[in-house]
Amino acid sequence: MPALVLLGAQWGDEGKGKATDLLGGSVDYVVRYQGGNNAGHTVVVGDQKYALHLLPSGILSPGCTPVIGNGVVVDPSVLFSELNGLNDRGVDTSKLLISGNAHVITPYNVTVDKVTERFLGKRKIGTTGRGIGPTYADKINRVGIRIQDLYDESILTQKVEAALDGKNQLLTKVFNRRAIEVGQVVEELLGYADRLKPYVADTVLVLNQALEQDKVVLFEGGQGTLLDIDHGTYPFVTSSNPTAGGACTGAGVGPTKISRVIGILKAYTTRVGSGPFPTELFDEDGEALRRIGGERGVTTGRDRRCGWFDAVIARYATRVNGLTDFFLTKLDVLTGWEQIPVCVAYEIDGRRVEELPYSQTDFHHAKPVYEYLPGWSEDITKAKSFSDLPKNAQDYVKALEEMSGAPISAIGVGPGRDETIEVNSFL
Ligand code: GDP
Ligand code: IMO
Ligand code: MG
Repeated sequence: MPALVLLGAQWGDEGKGKATDLLGGSVDYVVRYQGGNNAGHTVVVGDQKYALHLLPSGILSPGCTPVIGNGVVVDPSVLFSELNGLNDRGVDTSKLLISGNAHVITPYNVTVDKVTERFLGKRKIGTTGRGIGPTYADKINRVGIRIQDLYDESILTQKVEAALDGKNQLLTKVFNRRAIEVGQVVEELLGYADRLKPYVADTVLVLNQALEQDKVVLFEGGQGTLLDIDHGTYPFVTSSNPTAGGACTGAGVGPTKISRVIGILKAYTTRVGSGPFPTELFDEDGEALRRIGGERGVTTGRDRRCGWFDAVIARYATRVNGLTDFFLTKLDVLTGWEQIPVCVAYEIDGRRVEELPYSQTDFHHAKPVYEYLPGWSEDITKAKSFSDLPKNAQDYVKALEEMSGAPISAIGVGPGRDETIEVNSFL
């Protein structure tokens, strides 16, 4: 049963797009199972660079069927502009399948996201402002709009009315905004229906049948483990489950079908938006990681916060996802440091703590305990096998593997598809 999950092991932006694209040529389906266009996945193919937000990165591999699962939230206008952009560059997107049960990000969800963040002031989450949280909130509150609702005007109108009833009270009375008109929203949503129609499918059936026929299915997570609504640094998280279990609920595939769970792990750490980050750097090292690593958000253009590798987080990701492998990315960015600090534990109120504390208060007080590993200065971007790496780079990888609790099966030494060292095959 070749079903693989590929997900972020840290706070997102680990290089999931590149890793998915690398496997894309050997898999039959690539499925997004949660999140929406808050994601920004960069794929570099030859001299072409693609930024994907909603579409699975497998869309760039001609043999692969890209699927947007029921757990994803879809902004149709964003979807169309992403499809147009790819079509203009000669990418065939006709195979795309979208679950009829996926929820729609409506214009009022985007408004509520932005207004809520403004209202929170300095306590804000630092969301991407794409309406992700409010759309998932509507889903849980059972007032969400699903793709399938766009094909029944009467039901759609009733659902938009139900969703806007309370929101308009909030918008006008609390946030001092104008009320949103039901008719206008319905008209906009109906306007998307025809173009969406050819893609809409019973994706649960399609994927399960594919697995029965021994096809290879890859589930591509958005965001990362520490941004998970249940297992992340709540409340500074996204509103879905990027962790491995999310692939089952977000695509309708049972856990017994998943054969491998690959955690994408950056050789250092980054985070976008608010929230605790024990190894964050505020000095020239942090600035250097940002500059050399090109750590600027693909979706919002915000500078990413940068810090050293955190093994406590990696171990936690191994545990909550049941990781079978790691794909270590951006090792090349660390070239040139004489020694590289790696966080092996935390000090919390004078105690040494080896595992991620479940208490938010403790995590906010966590200070990194560093070990210093010797660096290397040789260019590693041309390395094709593990033995091509300088001894200190090999030792760095081995030390991370030892601390993180799962084998490192691939190593990224540059953004390109071929700038990867494959240690163990994923398929
Ligand atoms: P994602 O959201 O997890 O798909 O990651 P992003 O695309 O937001 O950010 C990762 C960035 O690192 C992108 O610009 C990638 O092109 C780049 N990247 C991925 N792997 C490597 C690598 O091994 N080395 C270098 N230098 N860049 C990489
Ligand atoms: P990829 O898939 C990094 C962060 C936001 C914010 C928090 C909540 O490219 O790794 P949201 O808009 O989801 O409600 O914002 O989550 N965030 C990400 N950070 N990479 C992402 O996606 C992210 N998607 C959301 O910055 O802190
Ligand atoms: Mg990203």
